[in-house]
Amino acid sequence: MLCSATKSWLGGVAALSSLLVVSCSGEPAVTDAASTPAQALTIIEERAEISSPDGLITAEIWSENGAPHYRVMFDGSETIAASALGFRFAEAANLENGLQLVAMERDTHDETWEQPWGERRLVRDHHNEILVQFRDPSAPETGFDIRMRVFDTGLGFRYEVPVANDEHRAITNELTHFNLPGQVQAWWIPAAGWNRYEYLYHETDLQEVDRAHTPFTAQLENGPYLAIHEAALVDYSGMYLDRDRDGIMGTDLAPGSDGILVHKDGDFITPWRTIQIAADAVGLINSDIILNLNEPNQLGDVSWVEPGKYVGIWWGMHIRTFSWGSGPIHGATTENTREYIDFAADNGFDGVLVEGWNIGWDGDWFRNGALFNFTESYPDFDLQGLAAYGAERDVRLIGHHETSGHVTNYENQMEDAFDLYQSVGITQVKTGYVADGGDLIRIDENGHERREWHYGQYAVNHHARVVSEAAERQISINPHEPVKDTGLRRTWPNWISREGARGQEFNAWGVPPNGPDHVPTLAFTRMLSGPMDFTPGIFNLMPGGEDAASRVETTLAKQLALYVVIYSPIQMAADLPEHYEARTDAFQFIRDVPTDWEHSVALQGEVGEFVVFARQERNAEDWYLGAVTDEVARDLSIPLDFMEADQTYTAQIYRDGEDADWDTNPYPIVIEERQVSASDVLDIYLAPGGGAAIRFVAGRG
Ligand code: NOJ
Ligand code: CA
Repeated sequence: MLCSATKSWLGGVAALSSLLVVSCSGEPAVTDAASTPAQALTIIEERAEISSPDGLITAEIWSENGAPHYRVMFDGSETIAASALGFRFAEAANLENGLQLVAMERDTHDETWEQPWGERRLVRDHHNEILVQFRDPSAPETGFDIRMRVFDTGLGFRYEVPVANDEHRAITNELTHFNLPGQVQAWWIPAAGWNRYEYLYHETDLQEVDRAHTPFTAQLENGPYLAIHEAALVDYSGMYLDRDRDGIMGTDLAPGSDGILVHKDGDFITPWRTIQIAADAVGLINSDIILNLNEPNQLGDVSWVEPGKYVGIWWGMHIRTFSWGSGPIHGATTENTREYIDFAADNGFDGVLVEGWNIGWDGDWFRNGALFNFTESYPDFDLQGLAAYGAERDVRLIGHHETSGHVTNYENQMEDAFDLYQSVGITQVKTGYVADGGDLIRIDENGHERREWHYGQYAVNHHARVVSEAAERQISINPHEPVKDTGLRRTWPNWISREGARGQEFNAWGVPPNGPDHVPTLAFTRMLSGPMDFTPGIFNLMPGGEDAASRVETTLAKQLALYVVIYSPIQMAADLPEHYEARTDAFQFIRDVPTDWEHSVALQGEVGEFVVFARQERNAEDWYLGAVTDEVARDLSIPLDFMEADQTYTAQIYRDGEDADWDTNPYPIVIEERQVSASDVLDIYLAPGGGAAIRFVAGRG
């Protein structure tokens, strides 16, 4: 018997009443899987093989003396050498040895689906699939299936594990390995550290990687670029990579507070383990495999999920002109918020984020998560009145729930908190989990305090609960200090953005700021996973003064470029209104740039060095371009052939002045217009730490 599963994900296997089994002689034979007696399992000694639709990527899956393995080739060369698969459990037989390949089934898929919002409206899902069954011939209900989908830009595979009688499985080790051959260059941030995902990126030889988060980006010697990540992280722990031995990255899963990595009851599936592969670095970006490996939208009509731009009572806290807590510089006052609503209305913004509006911020809020009250405002903040004032001016308040990592305190109040926001017309909430890695607080059923990881199974399920409660009230969620993105916005489109990397805030704190190479690295690493609420648009680049240790290490033009380079359907204009009012010429780009796109393409770039994006506004003809560089000045030549051939455009260009330099002279910016068309090549100069932002206005030139 192959599998007695009944869960929907196993439908494919359970429904295999006619399963194609390849016998040892290579002759295909059709057997009735459900009724195949245990002793009749046919062991397939060949390797299961599968290719991408264009044939460039191929993968093999096989049993090496009973140990399941896979490997991957790109353009004829090995990109993932033979790598092990399997599991170890507490109190159940491991799935590691004694497993034979006994059946396989193939499928192919070509479909184009539409995103409600996104970096592109239409997404093509074109892949070949293979389902490979490994079973223990002496205990034929023991084993797992590997479902692998191979796209032209990479592949994903997941485990589908039958567990008889709904038994419990406590995973103590997932044995998925990624064996990167030869000399490998890697771009990575450390995993299992106190600062969650908020680290500067390392660029090192693979031998210097310790434990690394995904997306984990690498380049093989003289070879292709790879990015290892996961898709559809649901009811499981987040995967990070741990270097087992030279060149072999093993899988690590964040443990729960009981030391177990993942708990499961009955049949289970894992998230997809994904390997993107591309001949050039931008090929990693121009891929939709993470979204394609997620389930379609489960929320039905999501027209209430609205992309847009916002301002907020936020940066003032980070540069300490406002406080979150009550007192003389309390930021979230009715008066301040009215001014922000006016500024938003006058400049076409959709929302005003207000942090520090609710009781709980006084004292050491970082450590006092249990004190947050999510329904009670400070006395100087009139939630209802401000929501009504915003509605008059066509601006929404954006809600804020900082938990300081006390998840139970939040869950206890979550429904009431969302009810309150819904009652005043708030449709978007930023959440926050400021707590060191491994220090999320959960109070268990016995009243004991437990500590959890931001990316363990408990946190993964918590985020799903938040997104679901919010969806019931037509509210979208933007978590900071979140679990990483694995494409679940496809399934739950109200998961509208998230942080999950070092954002702009680090430039305000007096800690080492994000260096000039940070964004050109993010584009090829963190941003492969999905939208980021980076909070761009700082115009006063030295908020702590010229001598401060921490400042914004970009030119002014680069701040504008971030709106195109860093994708998020919600984008903040993060600086104080007076700084925009002082530079209305540059601010015009932020007023104009949309956040929802018909097309997006990464045109040029190298990891950590520079990147150029073009995006077309959704339901409109205008194109936008963003380019950023590291500390190296560059002259870029950009063919404009991404635009419509028979159209002329007025290019409104915001570029670095000749003498601009992030370090010595960050403000010079040239704002000029040129007439261009698709046959032109645009030459653009990027200063050290600089960038360029361009709006191409169609047909009005
Ligand atoms: C950290 C978040 O990243 C930041 O945006 C927020 O202002 C603070 N936490 C307080 O919630
Ligand atoms: Ca943060």
